Amino acid sequence: MHLSTGKHPHPLDPLAAREIDEVRRILVAEGLLTETARVAYLGLEEPPKGEVLAYRPGDPVTRRARAFLLDLATEAALDVVVSIGAGRVESREPIDPAIDGQVPMLDEEHALVRRVLRADAAWAEALARRGIDDPQGVYLAALSAGHFGLAEEEGRRVARVLAHVMPTPESLPWAHPVDGLVAYVDLVKGEVLEIVDTGPQPIPQESGDYGHGPFRTTQKPIHITQPDGPSFTVDGPLVRWEKWSLRLGYDMREGLTLHRIGFEDGGRVRPIVYRASVAEMVVPYGDPSPIRFWQNYFDTGEYQLGKLANSLELGCDCLGEITYFDAVVTDGAGLPKVITNAICMHEEDYGVLWKHTDPANGSRETRRQRRLVISFFVTVGNYDYGFYWYLYLDGTIELEVKATGIVFTGAYDERAAPYASEVAPGLAAPYHQHLFGARLDMTVDGVANAVDEVEVDIPPAGQDNPYGSVIRRAVTRLRTEREAVRDADLKAERTWHVVNPDVRNRLGRPVGYALHAEGRPTLLATPGSSIHERAEFATRHLWVTRYHPAERYPAGDLVNQHPGGAGLPAYTRADRDIDGQDIVLWHTFGLTHFPRTEDWPIMPVDTCGFVLKPVGFFDRNPTLDVPPSAAERSCH
Ligand code: NI
Repeated sequence: MHLSTGKHPHPLDPLAAREIDEVRRILVAEGLLTETARVAYLGLEEPPKGEVLAYRPGDPVTRRARAFLLDLATEAALDVVVSIGAGRVESREPIDPAIDGQVPMLDEEHALVRRVLRADAAWAEALARRGIDDPQGVYLAALSAGHFGLAEEEGRRVARVLAHVMPTPESLPWAHPVDGLVAYVDLVKGEVLEIVDTGPQPIPQESGDYGHGPFRTTQKPIHITQPDGPSFTVDGPLVRWEKWSLRLGYDMREGLTLHRIGFEDGGRVRPIVYRASVAEMVVPYGDPSPIRFWQNYFDTGEYQLGKLANSLELGCDCLGEITYFDAVVTDGAGLPKVITNAICMHEEDYGVLWKHTDPANGSRETRRQRRLVISFFVTVGNYDYGFYWYLYLDGTIELEVKATGIVFTGAYDERAAPYASEVAPGLAAPYHQHLFGARLDMTVDGVANAVDEVEVDIPPAGQDNPYGSVIRRAVTRLRTEREAVRDADLKAERTWHVVNPDVRNRLGRPVGYALHAEGRPTLLATPGSSIHERAEFATRHLWVTRYHPAERYPAGDLVNQHPGGAGLPAYTRADRDIDGQDIVLWHTFGLTHFPRTEDWPIMPVDTCGFVLKPVGFFDRNPTLDVPPSAAERSCH
């Protein structure tokens, strides 16, 4: 199915292929997209929230697109907004790479580094010193360079390149890292800036190939059938399931975006989340080796994971009665590219919803839980990530991120030992983190929301706690943006309640939704380090900002080679009032990964995420009207 509907798009519909074609035509006509220019990013410029909330079907809609352009001949970069309806460029801001950072990596830059290095004599010599005579048999990828204040890189568009041997074109390279060697390449001039060679190290020889059997023969088939089809309805990007309604969006940077999530209650749809996405992610590595100290990949801001989505396959990626949506992204030439079956949606049985057998009256009732699953999977180099949004019958919203694929590798020796696991003979997998920045633009029963930090409050034994058994609850309103920079505390059962102070439940208390954090480690890098400056968002579990349409990304608009300080630290500098305002929650969660031998040669899915739960939002359990399942009816 398509997310973009025909002639009368809703303001939040993702750009259709014909709109991308139109943007391209306008950019060419205005002389901005020339032979030497590339489109590094192109996406819907969403109208400000107020306009979207005021929109009624049939209203005129102004469709806008935002693009990052890079001219490979002049190195000039632009941040432009195009009005598709008006057929013109509305704004064009020059990007200064030394201050603003670089536009995201281009697909063609992987081919470029291969071309440059395979023609480079010093690179060939470095490989020859390691017994590699054929540079063609070495896998190379343009890796984001980070920002380390190196004078020779100031204002230059740079990638760093690590090498892995591919014994045959069918082999997986990751088992055979060429350690002690890294190249820095200028991506615009197409020249090698520097080759760092700390000397040959043994290249692990054991194959990392998998997937070829022999296979166990013990599995009987599992079939999931819904003879009457799923319980949801789809109208373009508008999805309705049980009492939920929401709009799906897709962006080549963020991937899947969810809009206007609401729940029908008392004959009307009550808004909960205006927009939800994972707006950034970063994978910092912890090995200080001169070959890989710079390894910190912002898979969203630098590589734009949305354009790296997989086309999903029925029976493999998704089981049962599946609805797929195609996504449309933009290539470097500004042409639309359709990723078929990028988004998977289905309904799952999820065990018991509630159950009680009463000893007094003998009543016996069970209801089954279901969830709506909306997901997409991306491949970023060696790693694969699945993003799974779940909506449950009882009003719970959950995001689960699945990390799988192949760990990044180096040579394992005494030097590497403190910073890496040995996952196969002589093969190191450096310790690292996968940190995600969710952006949750909340509208709990309206735009005026506030955040309370809620946790246990145990008074010392004495007058206030005569038996030592007291459990009380402390509720602290987070009044300003700086007050709301917070960390999780699992021992205190700390949650953050997004409440609407103006809307009360039947007990007279403000309605709310609580963010339950997993509370795992935030960014481990020390203050003052390059990655701490660049990924400051990831140093804390919670930030809350006043809504501003231009504040979209936890690490800022341009992340590639950005010196740091952009995004949340900049957004919160004015310390705006967030008490009873239009607010956005930003939540950091993730994995700290000490690779296991079991993670080699391919890693079983590991997960992380968060949950949003209604708390005082409904007047009682909202699932009392869920009928007994057919099977249960037959039991009784
Ligand atoms: Ni990992």
